Amino acid sequence: MSSYEDLIQLEQQRQNDNIELIASENFCSSRIREACGSILTNKYAEGYSRKRYYGGCQYIDMIETKAIEDACKLFNCKYANVQPHCGSSANQAIYRAFLKPNDNVLSMNLGAGGHLSHGHKMSFSGQDYNIISYGLTDDGILDYEDLENKLFKYGADMVLVGASSYSRIIDYERIGRIIEDYVNSTGAEKPLYMVDMAHVAGLIAAGLHPSPFPWADVVTSTTHKTLRGPRGGLILTNNEEMIKKINRTVFPGIQGGPLEHIIAAKGICFEEAMQSEFRDYINQVIENSKAFATKFIDLGWKVISNGTDNHMFILDTFHSIGLTGQQVEEALDKINITVNKNQIWKDPLPPLKSSGVRIGTAAMTTKGWKEEQFTILAEIIVAYLLGIASNLPVNIENFKNLVKNLNVKGE
Ligand SMILES: Cc1ncc(COP(=O)(O)O)c(C=O)c1O
Repeated sequence: MSSYEDLIQLEQQRQNDNIELIASENFCSSRIREACGSILTNKYAEGYSRKRYYGGCQYIDMIETKAIEDACKLFNCKYANVQPHCGSSANQAIYRAFLKPNDNVLSMNLGAGGHLSHGHKMSFSGQDYNIISYGLTDDGILDYEDLENKLFKYGADMVLVGASSYSRIIDYERIGRIIEDYVNSTGAEKPLYMVDMAHVAGLIAAGLHPSPFPWADVVTSTTHKTLRGPRGGLILTNNEEMIKKINRTVFPGIQGGPLEHIIAAKGICFEEAMQSEFRDYINQVIENSKAFATKFIDLGWKVISNGTDNHMFILDTFHSIGLTGQQVEEALDKINITVNKNQIWKDPLPPLKSSGVRIGTAAMTTKGWKEEQFTILAEIIVAYLLGIASNLPVNIENFKNLVKNLNVKGE
């Protein structure tokens, strides 16, 4: 059996060689990786700055306080909790801080792009709360009218907005106004307005996607997708009473000792995202995504919502060439292109097959890719998959070489 070091080396090689199109992945900087691997992992620091259950936290306090300040500066808000170990635990903290079991949660249908923690029946969210979901219009755009109708019809204790696979700008203001209107015209108690910005956090940080503030009451995120930080979660708010409840729920409510090595890495990620280079990077991510989606459309393929405003899009492979998302994922793996199967809205196929794949440009843009490489890649993918779909003999080595020549070495 190989050693752990050997296996890490092999994974490093895979990350260098493959074309990474998974929309939730990225390559963080060596500075961030060093913090993740630092001696901070040795320290227990249950609690919060100046209120810890362990001694020797003087530097840990400075690190966590700085990370909180940088998060607030980056996202222009007053309070942050940087301790959630991942995006799902950040979300869990919000449910547990503000809802009771069986309360109504209005969230995006998973088949429309919502995340597991937004109400899947195998997740705590779908098991402990009463989930009502809104979907997409036939054009693949978030159905604001559906959201409004369901809010008025069923009421909600929390309106949850955010997605894992949605390629258009989300109009947080419009949803904020729908909630206001609902409260004013029915006299109902205001539902908590929660935004999970995990996927578009980098775009929001760069000012290239509208911010959920001042509309949302609470905002959760991951730090490892477009934000290009370490794997982790984040919670933001402008409300002092809410942050007190959130802090108590994160610790001791659902977590123990914070991962201070990851918190330092999150802080570095916030610092990096405040630089003008990061804005240039995100701008390129979006331009690349648009050029990539447009090339598929020009070649006659179906892209959900007919394009993208952000770092990703959903390619409907089943209705384009009759291959399921699963078949496409497996076929592309053979030529070192990594994607993930993804359901389309009202998908006729089950999740493990799926009619589409989700494609993102954040990771390869970090490797330096521009529109030109993505356009050529679309041509390669289309030629290769057409061969597979029509059962023609496909020269895998040939396509592998085309892919290799396009690739550039990562950091
Ligand atoms: C919108 C959204 N929220 C939350 C999460 C969960 O993040 P994690 O995998 O860190 O729990 C994801 C992950 O893909 C996501 O897309």
